[in-house]
Amino acid sequence: MIPMVIDTDTASDDAVALVLALTDPRVDVRAITVVSGNVPLAMGVQNALYTTALCGSEAPVYAGADRPLVRDHVFAHEVHGGDGMGDSGLPLTGREPAPGHGVDVLIDMARQHPGELTLVTLGPLTNLALALRKAPDIAGLYKKVVMMIGAADGLGNVTPAAEFNVHVDPEAADIVFRSGMPLEMVGWDVSRKDAVLTSADSAALAERGPLGEFAMKIQRQLWEFCREVTHVDGIDMPDPVTMAIAIEPDLATEAADRYVVVETRGQHTAGATLVDHLGVTGKEPNVRVVLHADHDRFMAMLHEACGKPASP
Ligand code: BDR
Ligand code: CA
Repeated sequence: MIPMVIDTDTASDDAVALVLALTDPRVDVRAITVVSGNVPLAMGVQNALYTTALCGSEAPVYAGADRPLVRDHVFAHEVHGGDGMGDSGLPLTGREPAPGHGVDVLIDMARQHPGELTLVTLGPLTNLALALRKAPDIAGLYKKVVMMIGAADGLGNVTPAAEFNVHVDPEAADIVFRSGMPLEMVGWDVSRKDAVLTSADSAALAERGPLGEFAMKIQRQLWEFCREVTHVDGIDMPDPVTMAIAIEPDLATEAADRYVVVETRGQHTAGATLVDHLGVTGKEPNVRVVLHADHDRFMAMLHEACGKPASP
């Protein structure tokens, strides 16, 4: 069993990552903490509650930080829809978020289960940065932190330098990257290279059952973004491939330990993750950087999850 905590700004691709984790018998999702990012916090909480309910999961969903540490909000409605879920008109579930703040949950979970938990982050790192500020001891208490963040090739999807999850809250990412936690970074480059669904893939996944139909219909706006910005033949799935690697680590077919810093001040480059590929700084690596993932195994995991029964 992989005991797991998931931190997410739940919108369309986050939801697919949740489906992967919540339907996998090898994973025990202990808590889902939501952070402001793709959509405002309350919307992300609703999206996470809907997804857990659909998967028949009782994993508790907690609301976390409602804004970046110091910057103004940046949302991604144009990528994921006005509701973050492809404007699918999803009904309210009647479920409520669990009592308690997501930041405290990240702290309490780590302290209660030292060395046991895998933390998977799928959004801006505001919650984790606040948790580290409040309780620095948790840096040594997670087994590992697998993050969808940044880009090892330096190409951003919001600015030429910045990937969305860093762009929203570079100061938070900076705190996390300098924390000494056992970090694994799955950047947007991996998604673009190895986690692209063609329209035929999408149709096949939608036919697997209600979870597949859900997972694909919520991507409605993503196609245009991927055509215009990502420049791939289909839609790429950054959060799901990160989750797949957290569940099956050897799905990462190429990875390297690297020194990585986050640019917080550059006039044109704020939000960049600078990966010292050549070792020119002489600094000790602080991050395991994933460079490639196994596309076929990723697709197999998606097919498996999308074919699982949904809760009525
Ligand atoms: C990341 O930004 C969000 O739009 C996605 O959910 C993913 O976490 C990709 O840059
Ligand atoms: Ca996300």
